[in-house]
Parts: sequence; structure tokens; C-alpha cells
Amino acid sequence: MADAKPLIQVKNLDLYFGAFHALRNVSVDFHAGELVGLVGDNGAGKTTLIRVLCGIHTPTGGEVYFDGERVRAFHPKLAIDQGIETIQQSVGLCDNLSIARNFYLGREPVKRILGIPFLDFAKMRGEAKKVIRAFGLRDNVSVDDEVERLSGGERQSVKIGRAVEFKNRVVIMDEPTNHLSVREREHVNELAVQLRDQGLLVIYITHDIFQVHKLADRIVIMENGEKIEDASTDSMTADELEEVIRQGGRQVEKMEA
Ligand SMILES: Nc1ncnc2c1ncn2[C@@H]1O[C@H](COP(=O)(O)OP(=O)(O)O)[C@@H](O)[C@H]1O
Ligand SMILES: [Mg+2]
Repeated sequence: MADAKPLIQVKNLDLYFGAFHALRNVSVDFHAGELVGLVGDNGAGKTTLIRVLCGIHTPTGGEVYFDGERVRAFHPKLAIDQGIETIQQSVGLCDNLSIARNFYLGREPVKRILGIPFLDFAKMRGEAKKVIRAFGLRDNVSVDDEVERLSGGERQSVKIGRAVEFKNRVVIMDEPTNHLSVREREHVNELAVQLRDQGLLVIYITHDIFQVHKLADRIVIMENGEKIEDASTDSMTADELEEVIRQGGRQVEKMEA
């Protein structure tokens, strides 16, 4: 169940890239324990919106709040400070490092012997092993294997496992299943649901309304930088939402029979 108080609150957000109006007066709330599908055609502004939340873009106008506290400075550390992990299709892992090393990328544990710091490989391997098994890697894959050996779905598992281990509160998945097989796609989708069930906020970006409607608690639709729909998946079917996308917004308010 979602909390009453939003974890992330976006109010009247505007963003210009030069003269181009990329986000237009966007207001949306996101709650812990919610899986929100953020849907819209290519160029709708989905990635731009989440880049503001991660501190990559500074909005031209409007406000963002985390836990009710207004964000004053947008900088890339914002995502780390707020416990946000972003999962995209192909970035975020180093192919030529082991799975265990990738797991701790940028947060490597250190042990000291006679005061001299060494990377704590035993800890990295042990912890990575536990979490990665829980997130469904093949049994014949070792944490010492290079990430190169993994399938697309398994790479996503490493990133998702990392998000859980490091106690992130928000996982943003930006088109996470592009180029994955059907089976791998299902696996990634199951992980998204698991994260939500553990109480995280999951924002799942896709242009495929039918895929995400099955998973999400709520669907937010964007078009031309505007939010044109924000509805619980209980209240609207995927077909109805697709019609909203086709029409570029709700034309006539539906009357309940
Ligand atoms: N850094 C940028 N500079 C200029 N224009 C950008 C930049 N990033 C995105 N855009 C433009 O903003 C619009 C929205 O892009 P984006 O948020 O990536 O869309 P989506 O993720 O919904 O496909 C597009 O027209 C895109 O070309
Ligand atoms: Mg995008």
C-alpha cells in the first residue's frame, strides 16, 4: 500500500532547452511502495522528467520535494543523496570487471592491514553472491565472472540487486526491457514488482502501455512535455489509456453507468 505522504512531489515543473519547451507545467506525486508506469511516445519528456529528479537537469521553473523538503540545488549527487538508482538498458555496468566488482562499483569496501587499505574482496564476493542468487542469476554463473558473460536480463538483475543492497528508496527503470527476450523481459518485470513489494518507489518508463499496465498501480502519461493523464490501473484499462494517448488527452470525461 502506498503511503499518504508523497516521497517525491513535483509541482508546476517547467524546463526549456534553449527555446525548446521540454517540460510544461508538470505536477505529479510519487509514493513509497508504488509502481508507477510513466508512459508516452518518444520525445514526450519522460527521460527529461526523471533527469530532473536525479539532479542532471535544473528546471527552469517549478518545484521538487523529497519527503516534503524542497530541493534547492540540482546536481548529480542528488540521486545518491535521495537513494535513487536509475536502471537503463545498457549503461551502469563495466563489462570487463567481475560481477562482484560491479556490484560495489564506486562503493568498494576496504579493509586495513597494518593500517594500509586494501579492497575487501572477500566481502564483495560474499555479499554479491547472496544478493545476486536471490535475484535470479543462472547457477553456473560465478560472481568472479566478468559482466560480459551475462545476458541482458542478468545484467539488469545485478543493477536491481545493487539497488536493494544499498537501501535505495527509489528505482527508476528507463525502458529497461528494450532489446531483451520475452523471458528476460518477464524476469525484469517481476523484479520491478518485487522492489515495489519491498516498499520502494518504482518508476517504470516505457512506451508500451500494455506491458506496464499489468504491473503498475498507476499510469502517468506524458505528451509533448505535458502530463495528459494520471490514473490508477484499477480505474482505467490499458485500452482506455491507449485511447487517451491516441487522442492526446482525455476528450470527454467518462460517465459512470
Ligand atoms: N539535453 C537536451 N538538449 C536539448 N533537447 C533535449 C535534451 N534532452 C532531451 N531533449 C529533447 O526533449 C524532448 C524530450 O526528450 P526525452 O525526455 O528524452 O523524451 P522521452 O524520454 O519521452 O522519449 C525531445 O524532443 C528531445 O529531443
Ligand atoms: Mg527516454
